[in-house]
Amino acid sequence: MPPKVRPLRLTTLLYAFMTPKEKIDMQRLPSHIAIIMDGNGRWAKEKGEDRLYGHLHGVESVRNIVEGAAEIGIKYLTLYAFSTENWDRPEYEVSGLMELLIDTIRNEVPTLNKNNIRLHVIGAVDMLPDAAKNELKEALNETASNTGLNLIMALSYSSRWEITDAVKHIAADVKAGKLMPEDISQDTVKQYLTTKDFPDPELMIRTSGEYRISNFLLYQLAYAELYFTPTRWPDFRKENLYTAIHDFQSRERRFGKTGEQVKKEEPTNL
Ligand code: IPE
Ligand code: IPE
Ligand code: MG
Repeated sequence: MPPKVRPLRLTTLLYAFMTPKEKIDMQRLPSHIAIIMDGNGRWAKEKGEDRLYGHLHGVESVRNIVEGAAEIGIKYLTLYAFSTENWDRPEYEVSGLMELLIDTIRNEVPTLNKNNIRLHVIGAVDMLPDAAKNELKEALNETASNTGLNLIMALSYSSRWEITDAVKHIAADVKAGKLMPEDISQDTVKQYLTTKDFPDPELMIRTSGEYRISNFLLYQLAYAELYFTPTRWPDFRKENLYTAIHDFQSRERRFGKTGEQVKKEEPTNL
């Protein structure tokens, strides 16, 4: 018997020619996407260049991804730009990164305003150089009334730092009689985190082929879908973001329940 050949359906053929953006279901977008922007150093080294060259090109990706997220109506985008642990990198790399940060904030504010994007920062910003703190302060003020995408930059951020800080504040409030230990709920804990104003991310993307969280939003990512790609951050573009969102939409989010239960229910959001 000759093998059965299935006729190629027109819809299958059309689907193959659709762009990642066209494949997204715009009614089921994640409201918050968090990204670990990794691989700048390796990208540069592979080109025989200095690591800072990679960081410089990484800014192009930030621009492209912020634009891409705003374009489809994502409400929150958190970008991990510099971790608490990154302070231990060689002096020249840290100061190069800080200079790049200052220049980028200064140059990007008009574009943020043009696109109705509001900037937020999470992390131990006190540790940043004064010039960076000042630029940030201005950028936060100047974009404060924008109502489109909320762009959250994680700078000098680590989750263990954040949770430790939250515990200190909770302890201080208990000591001052403002909070009773028996009244502490999961929601109370959330209120003491730097992310209290934002919903938890539904999708977390890490570029550059590393399969770890590296101290990023440990509490908030409890039920996030994780997406890992080998693409180095300087090569990551809107199309890659849209592919990740499309992949996210193919997953079944169960929040501890059974598949049968979630199929019957409305989508849950923690
Ligand atoms: C991410 O790229 C940017 C920062 C952490 C500031 P890396 O600098 O970590 O690049 P790799 O991982 O060494 O390639
Ligand atoms: C995580 O990347 C931090 C940022 C992207 C800002 P790292 O490159 O610092 O993380 P590890 O060291 O590979 O875990
Ligand atoms: Mg890295």
